Amino acid sequence: MSEHPTHVTTHVPHRPVAVTVDGERRDLLPGRSLAAALIGADLPVTRHDRAGRPRAPFCAMGVCFECALTVDGVPLVRACQEPVRAGMTVQTGRGPHAGSTAGSTAGSTAGSTAVGREERT
Ligand code: FES
Repeated sequence: MSEHPTHVTTHVPHRPVAVTVDGERRDLLPGRSLAAALIGADLPVTRHDRAGRPRAPFCAMGVCFECALTVDGVPLVRACQEPVRAGMTVQTGRGPHAGSTAGSTAGSTAGSTAVGREERT
């Protein structure tokens, strides 16, 4: 049976590529969103807010900035909108880099929104 002509498939390679996350090599599937790949690698925390609470991707459509991290030196890259590429360097706002550019910069935007949202409830 042939595939239905309106069925659209997107080719996603199944061979992982090397990506550096917080200084450690991780093998992630290219072409998938960085947020999905990090969650799949048991690395869901992208940063910490000003109160030190862990934050992770929330909307997965580029709106909330909860997934903001630094990619190849560029801060505030939304992981849910960034495809995994071989050789990319990712710096999250957790672990040994907590409080660095990724965490503190993201925290000044998304963190304040998240805290404000929590204070209203
Ligand atoms: S998860 Fe909301 S912008 Fe990426």
